[in-house]
Amino acid sequence: MKARVLQNGRLLPALERVLHDEFAAHRLAEEPDPGAFLAGHGGEFSALVTSARFGADAAMMAAMPALKAICSFGVGYDTIDIDAARRHGIAVSNTPDVLNDCVADIAFGLLIDVARGISASDRFVRRGDWLKGAFPLQTRVSGKRLGILGLGRIGQVIAKRATGFDMEVRYHNRHPVIGTPYAYETTLKGLAQWSDFLVVASAGGADTRHLVSADVIAALGPTGYLINIARGSVIDETALVDALANKRIAGAGLDVFEDEPNVPEALFTLNNVVLLPHVASGTRETRQAMADLTLANLRSFLAGGALLTAVA
Ligand code: 8YV
Repeated sequence: MKARVLQNGRLLPALERVLHDEFAAHRLAEEPDPGAFLAGHGGEFSALVTSARFGADAAMMAAMPALKAICSFGVGYDTIDIDAARRHGIAVSNTPDVLNDCVADIAFGLLIDVARGISASDRFVRRGDWLKGAFPLQTRVSGKRLGILGLGRIGQVIAKRATGFDMEVRYHNRHPVIGTPYAYETTLKGLAQWSDFLVVASAGGADTRHLVSADVIAALGPTGYLINIARGSVIDETALVDALANKRIAGAGLDVFEDEPNVPEALFTLNNVVLLPHVASGTRETRQAMADLTLANLRSFLAGGALLTAVA
């Protein structure tokens, strides 16, 4: 008899196929009343497969008394109630490392785009404005100062990319990272003050909520750029929109937002901002690698009770 696996939310089609063929996984998203289904059948599942987007809350875990493992597609787990998982003795895995390169690439893509006005100048050409005059001069990237909030796995790859652009790198974390060549700034405000470009690469969740406050944004100043490939919750979005609209910072490149897929409409008309629909890990290669790691965790748990990349 196959172990019963529940799938929360829709996933990559290739991942859903394996979940269906190998594990006969049940799709909660296809239930007309997921709450009622969980109340009636929650006890039948020992493993849950979810994603950084859909997560798993405390109520879901409480409704699944036999649940022993949550395998999540994505590195961030701010949508999974880790405290509740610990209380219920549920192990949780994510998909670290396999997306570092693609996320770092998009961090730099956003950075160069907003500084050099790639998207803005593309719109300029398409509007036919080139026929009327030259595109305004933009801001140099090479050799500038890059501040990184969160020198974790992704932050370190962003720093590596920066060395190719002859950029000086500093970072802020809760604690200094042992063994890195980059200078540690003890406060985020200090890092923002120093930075030409401030890249947010920290985890989401309650601990980092609005860490990039109105004060930090003010410290970045009218020549500073803010890039976010982490979670929208890390930045006070209202303060950011206000600073961008009033040119109190030079620009922003954003892949993530506080209430996705709702992006503040005030940003739509601003030329000093590049907006992406949370696609930093969104390449075929990386999403497949994330799916493979999710499945490797599930197989390892079902075969021997242990997850490969456990976060709790
Ligand atoms: C995911 C992400 O694509 O890994 C993460 O934490 O935010 C993205 O890479 C997406 O959220 C998966 O649901």
